[in-house]
Amino acid sequence: MVVLGIETSCDETAAALVEETGDAGRPWRLLSSVVASQVEIHRAWGGIVPELSARQHIRDICGVVERALLDGASGYDAIAVTSGPGLVGSLLVGLSFAKALAWSRSVPLIGVHHLAGHIESLVLEHGEVPLPAIVLVVSGGHTSLYRVATPGSYELLGRTRDDAAGEAYDKVAKLLGLGYPGGPAIDRMATAGNDRAILFPKTRLTHADRNQPHLPGRRDFSFSGLKTAVLRHVTVRRAELGLAADDPLPPPEVADTAASFQRVVVETLLDQLFDAVRWFGAQSVGIAGGVSANSRLRETAATRAAARGIPLYLPSLALSTDNAAMIAAAGLRQYRRGLTGGVELNADAALPLNDHRPS
Ligand code: KG4
Ligand code: ZN
Repeated sequence: MVVLGIETSCDETAAALVEETGDAGRPWRLLSSVVASQVEIHRAWGGIVPELSARQHIRDICGVVERALLDGASGYDAIAVTSGPGLVGSLLVGLSFAKALAWSRSVPLIGVHHLAGHIESLVLEHGEVPLPAIVLVVSGGHTSLYRVATPGSYELLGRTRDDAAGEAYDKVAKLLGLGYPGGPAIDRMATAGNDRAILFPKTRLTHADRNQPHLPGRRDFSFSGLKTAVLRHVTVRRAELGLAADDPLPPPEVADTAASFQRVVVETLLDQLFDAVRWFGAQSVGIAGGVSANSRLRETAATRAAARGIPLYLPSLALSTDNAAMIAAAGLRQYRRGLTGGVELNADAALPLNDHRPS
């Protein structure tokens, strides 16, 4: 069985073909994957403009799907498409396209949660991982911690109350004059800096969220305080150096600020991740999503996992940022569990993942 995956939840138009192998340990094989990035369009605005994103998906989707089908040199038996969460106008482009194609070809349609896709990117890359696993999904829109006790079940343990880690990277990079997207720019700049030059605060939440009082909350994240601390530091240093409001700090200070910010983000993420690993007696640990491309996060996670003697799974760089291969893989997982949709499937900008819990 081959699944065509389609992903348009944010600023990448993506299509991919993934085939079932019949091997239980390594269930899926990637046949083709095409990603059309809109980053050059949004760079001019310093961030993603949702309306421009939706319009560009419309321009790109036919060519991207066609290319994936040609590269994969194969037909398909079902279509998996991201139905949420994400930018609703962007989601609707992929979803409408997938619905029309599934209807015209009489193949099943599978609506996939974007974060289930990021989690399954680990299995697509490495084969089935030892369970229970604790997986951190860390991207521009999400910072969420999941427990995977059985294949295809995703239990939310904690998530950010405000900014996602990638969003904090993007905003701090903008503040430091490093451009968009901020993650790779800070990652590069930080290598030249002293990560203890500025002691930014680490946020550790201990109380329930007032808006979600039924959730325990102690595994939640928050990055808006850190972002404000960086803003305050930059403002004070500009005043001390006699710089104008928009002037960049001298490059060595930018490097120190980037490195100090990055140390706090990485430690905050990994403290929570490994605390959950210990608490739940996990057999493996995973990190997925765009920020899992971060070099310091990868290195520090590898050191901590080795110290605990637990296997760590990370996606390759191509599978860490948004792609449709992970959507096709998660779609195959769902298809085998009987979870398919139909023409009534709708885009949901805030789709919860616990829909996919085992019944
Ligand atoms: O998963 P993704 O491609 O899209 C979303 O679903 O949001 O993640 C994009 C995010 C952006 O915020 C980008 O700055 C961040 O991933 N990112 C990184 C790195 N590469 C991408 N953050 C830190 N270090 C990196 N090397
Ligand atoms: Zn993503």
